[in-house]
Amino acid sequence: MKRTLVLLKPDCVQRRLMGRVISRFEEKGFNIVGMKMLRVTPALARQHYAEHVQKSWYPGLEAFITSAPIVAMVVEGPDAIRVVREMVGATNGLKAVAGTIRGDFSSSRQMNLVHASDSPESAQRELAIFFQEEEICEYTPLMSDALRAADE
Ligand code: CDP
Ligand code: MG
Repeated sequence: MKRTLVLLKPDCVQRRLMGRVISRFEEKGFNIVGMKMLRVTPALARQHYAEHVQKSWYPGLEAFITSAPIVAMVVEGPDAIRVVREMVGATNGLKAVAGTIRGDFSSSRQMNLVHASDSPESAQRELAIFFQEEEICEYTPLMSDALRAADE
C-alpha cells in the first residue's frame, strides 16, 4: 500500500466538483485516510511548490492556489502514487486525455482542479507538509475482498 497527497484546488471547490473528484478515487478502490479543508497561505504555497518558485508563472500560480480554500487528502492504495497521477492526467486540461480528471473537467493549464504527488519522494515530502501522522486515519476497508485477489 502506498500513500499519496491529493489537493482539490480552489477551482475544484469553487466549481462544486469536490464530490465528483473524490468519488473517482473512492470508485477506483482507494482508501481516503486523511482529509482537511484549509486556506493555502503564500508561505505554504512557496513550500509546497518549491520547485516552481523561480518560474515566470509562479506568481499566477500562487495567486490562484491562495484564492479560495482547498481540500487536502491522503489517498492510499496499491501503487497509489503512479495510479493517482494517471487518473489526474496531464497538467494542461486541454492536453489531458479524456477520462482523466483534468481531461474531463479542465480547459486550463493553471486551473486544473487537482494536485497529486509525482513520485515517492514528492509524496513523502508533500504529505509531511499537509498532515501530521496522527491526522491520518488508518482503517481496514471491509470491501477489500471484493476489490482485489488476496495476493494482489
Ligand atoms: O500539477 P503538475 O505536476 O501536473 O504540474 P507542474 O508542472 O508541477 O505545475 C504545478 C502547477 O502549476 C500546475 O498543476 C498548474 O496549476 C500550475 N501551472 C501554471 O499555472 N502555469 C504553468 N505554465 C504550468 C503550471
Ligand atoms: Mg508537479
